[in-house]
Amino acid sequence: MERVELLLLPLLLLGAAGRLKQAEGCGEQSCPQAPDGFLNVHLIPHTHNDVGWLKTVDQYYYGAHNDIQHAGVQYILDSVVSQLLHDPSKRFIYVESAFFWRWWKQQDELVRRDVTRLVEEGRLEFINGGWSMNDEAATHYSSIIDQMTLGLQFLKSTFGDCGRPRVAWHIDPFGHSREQALLFAQMGYDGFFFGRLDYQDKANREKTKQMEMLWRASDDISPPYADLFTGVLPNGYNPPDGFCWDQLCDDTPIIDDPSVEDYNADVIVQKFLKAATQQAQKYLSSHIVMTMGSDFQYENAIMWFKNMDRLIKNVNMQQINGSKVNVFYSTPSCYLQSLHRANLTWPMKMDDFFPYADGPHMFWTGYFTSRPAFKGYERLSNNFLQVCNQMEALSGLEARNGPYGQSSSTVMRRAMGVAQHHDAVTGTAKQHVNNDYSLRLSEGWDSCQVVISNSLSSLTGTKENFAFCNLLNISVCHVTETANNFKVYLYNPLGRSVTWTVRLPVNGHAYKVIGPNDETVPSEVVDVSDFTKALRFQQGGAERELIFQGQIPAVGFSSFTVGKLSLPDRFVIKGKRGKKQPDKIQNQYYRVDFDPETGLISGIHNLEKKISLPLKQSFYWYNASVGNEESSQPSGAYIFRPNNSDSVPVSQHVRSYLVQNSLVQEVHQNFSSWCSQVVRLYRDQRYIELEWTVGPVPIGDEWGKEVISLIETNLKTDGVFYTDSNGRQILKRRRDSRETWKLNQTEPIAGNYYPVNSRIYIKGKNTQVTVLTDRSQGGSSIRDGSLELMVHRRLLRDDYRGVGEPLLENGLLGEGIVVRGRHLLLLDHADEAADTHRTLALQQYMSPQVVLSSGDGIPYSQSGTPKRKFSALNGELPQNGHLLTFAMHAADKILLRLEHPFQSQESKNNSQPITINLNTLFSSVSLSNFEETTLGANMEKSRLKRLQWRTRTGSPLQMDSPRAPVVDPSNITLSPMEIRTFLANVRYKAALHGR
Ligand SMILES: *[C@@H]1O[C@H](CO)[C@@H](O)[C@H](O)[C@H]1NC(C)=O
Ligand SMILES: *[C@@H]1O[C@H](CO)[C@@H](O)[C@H](O)[C@H]1NC(C)=O
Ligand SMILES: [Zn+2]
Repeated sequence: MERVELLLLPLLLLGAAGRLKQAEGCGEQSCPQAPDGFLNVHLIPHTHNDVGWLKTVDQYYYGAHNDIQHAGVQYILDSVVSQLLHDPSKRFIYVESAFFWRWWKQQDELVRRDVTRLVEEGRLEFINGGWSMNDEAATHYSSIIDQMTLGLQFLKSTFGDCGRPRVAWHIDPFGHSREQALLFAQMGYDGFFFGRLDYQDKANREKTKQMEMLWRASDDISPPYADLFTGVLPNGYNPPDGFCWDQLCDDTPIIDDPSVEDYNADVIVQKFLKAATQQAQKYLSSHIVMTMGSDFQYENAIMWFKNMDRLIKNVNMQQINGSKVNVFYSTPSCYLQSLHRANLTWPMKMDDFFPYADGPHMFWTGYFTSRPAFKGYERLSNNFLQVCNQMEALSGLEARNGPYGQSSSTVMRRAMGVAQHHDAVTGTAKQHVNNDYSLRLSEGWDSCQVVISNSLSSLTGTKENFAFCNLLNISVCHVTETANNFKVYLYNPLGRSVTWTVRLPVNGHAYKVIGPNDETVPSEVVDVSDFTKALRFQQGGAERELIFQGQIPAVGFSSFTVGKLSLPDRFVIKGKRGKKQPDKIQNQYYRVDFDPETGLISGIHNLEKKISLPLKQSFYWYNASVGNEESSQPSGAYIFRPNNSDSVPVSQHVRSYLVQNSLVQEVHQNFSSWCSQVVRLYRDQRYIELEWTVGPVPIGDEWGKEVISLIETNLKTDGVFYTDSNGRQILKRRRDSRETWKLNQTEPIAGNYYPVNSRIYIKGKNTQVTVLTDRSQGGSSIRDGSLELMVHRRLLRDDYRGVGEPLLENGLLGEGIVVRGRHLLLLDHADEAADTHRTLALQQYMSPQVVLSSGDGIPYSQSGTPKRKFSALNGELPQNGHLLTFAMHAADKILLRLEHPFQSQESKNNSQPITINLNTLFSSVSLSNFEETTLGANMEKSRLKRLQWRTRTGSPLQMDSPRAPVVDPSNITLSPMEIRTFLANVRYKAALHGR
């Protein structure tokens, strides 16, 4: 409104930027106008609020324990809001929804109205907007999408369209994944800024002006849909040296009253002009950005703002003297707009930004594995959340308010949102904070158990004493150990039926298992291993484990009744421990050979594909560096640095014995008192399972240990191996090499480690060895033909990156925690390998959930006999179709995501597009009014318009005319790697029970 007058005013008075015109709304039109012919410096007032690190998320929010770190998020928001209300030219961005949500809950109507106005005028802008600023190396795509959705949904429901962040902002995560960029592009972000990348990469980009680029984040999704404009911030996320005016900093304030003895405005202005000019030499456009803020800053916002006001005034005043530098308050999205207007040609980026090193010998590759138990718990919690989401959506309000009480999936969603933070799942928080993350997840489990019980009651039509045995991995479960009769419900969250092997702690010698169609299901009983018994401490006392295999329909359950048989004593074989040092195990699909001398695996065979491969697997450790003459850098929670390149075998000769029956064959290997493994083949399973148990890692030496599982083969791999990106697309890695610059390798082991979220593989001519993991780990191929995964680490030193604690994880007994996990080992023809590893990877993170009951349920609904088998689908999804999300979005709305889990070139059979009919997919609920949204479910897809960018390879790619707002649900096509997101109204069919 005042625009015309403003432009008429002399530039010298206002500074060339002009003032902020009267804000007319959020978005582009609220951005300050920057004049041509100047170096325009965008000051971005911001604060970086870790969702837990040295203090817990709530301690940070309230400002408790300021003795640990002075930080109080509530005061930051109070203080900033009051400053913004005071002066319309000021800007602020806020990032972490987990904190903003806490604060918003506590504000009264007046404050809420004021803040809403600030958001609508673009003065307070949400950036990124996820529940937390998630890590990119140890996170799984399923949880990234969920945590972003949770934050974006909160912003949308609170502020509408003006609350939609348009810029992604990962200023602190320790390296950046290609999949994350792909997900951001599909969430509709126009651009992405981050702070950390390899120091050599950064130096090279600064020299060649490639700090800003177009990241093409997929080989499969056609451009421009996978393109994301990406900028590296000049100074991490800190202000330039000397310009930090927070109460946490010591830089001198601007004193611009010439009558004051300490007058310094002229000196500070000159220093600023120099900093700006130097920075501009590293960037392509005539706009540069300065991040004015840092960790937990702006608690006393006036200090920052008052000095920036003076800076702006004094710097722009120099324009009278011919200065061509113009500085003003801005936001990342306004900066991005300016870059877009500049209409330049940007360089292209294809691979990722891993691993991250901030100096020679300083590779942040330890956190890929740090706190392996928590990483396992986090992944398992996602599995449980997906089951919880689905069952809640399948039963609607009956799941939220039923015979077991009131509950919802929200507690777990929030706990998982917090757990994705870049100091949470990374394992880089202090021990007491990590305990808090675990506590939050366990509260999520408690609430989801109520949801699942309510839903099971509603779906089966009976009310039973459901029990969730969360300690099955150490064979502890009160119900199955004590009851003579019990029921087992198996819920399968996948869109395809699965056969699942159940293993339950029992004390009987034989059981009869009856399946959902009254069929007898074969079962076996084996002894609990000594290794497992040693892990139980005071809990449980089962002597044996019952094994059976259940068929479970897609998105549904099967129930089994189990009854103990009383065998006459003479039939009970006591101490039936099998053959010692066995030389092989074998099922229909695989054979594993063992060297009877060493007890180690010596070869594997895929019998179906007729492939054999000599292969040795064993455990080793690296002694951690405590610093040496080359560098004082020790290994710690963030950084992996072995003290030399030689790993030490845990054992050269392992004692082993065989367990063998009609359902399973397994070899138990005892490497040492703190390291063991079970090599296992269940009947009909197309993989070799390696269940490792490692810990307490002894640290009586002076270094601490980094324990790996190493696989060695004779495959000619030429330095090449493959790792996944956040559990999804695969990236090719080359030892001692990076795609975009000539690497000066300073750490031959740690500098070749990459994040493995779900799989790592090597290929020979046409033979592929793949290992699927059950949690995120660091992995590499240090020698040709070999693969290694770091499974555990225990260290004596802090690594000087702020956490201030060595990664000891002493646990309850003080001697170090024990971690148990699984690797699935596959041998295949390279061109067919994806068919198996893609399918199994889905099963790894969306496994069936076991729910037990002591039997004797009472009918819950009026009609019919209890349901013993159920599928929410009319059929099954094809092998290349995945039900990624099925969750309640609002009382009568469902959030649904369908995914094509294959890449385009990797499978003859499965890399084809698929078509799904959503009208007929579900049988138990009826869905209508489908609306397609962006990946974060916060915007109709048809309304999405992203900025397009020119690259050296061509002009900006135009998006196709957006898909029609009305989708045809009967014809949903998915191409390789595509995820499509829908909201739909849901109706629950009556008389579901007893059909
Ligand atoms: C951007 O630059 C290209 C190539 O120089 C030119 O053809 C195009 O017209 C420019 N676009 C705008 C909006 O200025
Ligand atoms: C590689 O890095 C090391 C450690 O910083 C340095 O001493 C050496 O000169 C570098 N080599 C090259 C070729 O740049
Ligand atoms: Zn941080």
